[in-house]
Amino acid sequence: MRYASLNGGKRIRAMLVYAAGQAVDAELAQLDIPACAVELIHAYSLVHDDLPAMDNDMLRRGKPTCHIAYDEATAILVGDGLHSLAFELLAKDTALNLSATRRLVMIETLARAAGSHGMVGGQAKDIAAEGRKVDVEQLEKLHLGKTGALIRAAVKMGALTNETVEAPTLNILDEYATQIGLAFQIVDDILDEESDAETLGKNSGVDRAMEKATYPSVLGLEASRNMAQTLHTEALSALDKLGPRSHILKEIAGIVVGREH
Ligand code: IPE
Ligand code: IPE
Ligand code: MG
Ligand code: MG
Ligand code: MG
Repeated sequence: MRYASLNGGKRIRAMLVYAAGQAVDAELAQLDIPACAVELIHAYSLVHDDLPAMDNDMLRRGKPTCHIAYDEATAILVGDGLHSLAFELLAKDTALNLSATRRLVMIETLARAAGSHGMVGGQAKDIAAEGRKVDVEQLEKLHLGKTGALIRAAVKMGALTNETVEAPTLNILDEYATQIGLAFQIVDDILDEESDAETLGKNSGVDRAMEKATYPSVLGLEASRNMAQTLHTEALSALDKLGPRSHILKEIAGIVVGREH
């Protein structure tokens, strides 16, 4: 579990928890547990995503994937263990000082995002789409599920640590998170097509080899890049309604679309 969660990673989802918290004047100390919980779910999703039954990848964050470094049974159990730990932290860690009701809302937010209506549902669509033609609407749903849902949860959980945050603010943040969540996976697809293992810390060209449903495969590279730029612009204009408090979220949107790994 340490190998899969503490070996690097960009921590974008954790950054989003902190930045969303900062945008609603939450207490900094309240943000560590939701940030950990989201990253634990993300780390679990990567361990399972890399398994032979799924993407069959050998390299992750510049190191052998969990099932290569250990074995498949261990990797399955590592994912299960990371998943449980995320909810254990949210349920009981005293570093999170919230009402029981608010803790439950946070647990529900993460559970819903991780499950069949979110990440797991998107992963199921991703596997089902291998070798098949999908249209751009199906692809958008797939990406919003497998990657967008957890990114939306990260932003929402950061904001929920302020117990007085109001629905209009949550809605603006969700609009932002939805745009950058989709943009994040579009950029991941572009990097798989254009970059290399040394830069990415994971093998490239694997989506094409596995005939995955990706933005470059459906729209082409140029239109995919334009789409990511449009989503970036839309994410920033959603945040304009929040004023200067959202400047870190805006910077993260720039990182999401401008990243090289
Ligand atoms: C990779 O996510 C998997 C996707 C959802 C695209 P990241 O690119 O955030 O992976 P790490 O955490 O930085 O390794
Ligand atoms: C992974 O999408 C999404 C999840 C792990 C939920 P990818 O399969 O494209 O991610 P990488 O490219 O292996 O990091
Ligand atoms: Mg995958
Ligand atoms: Mg993969
Ligand atoms: Mg990918």
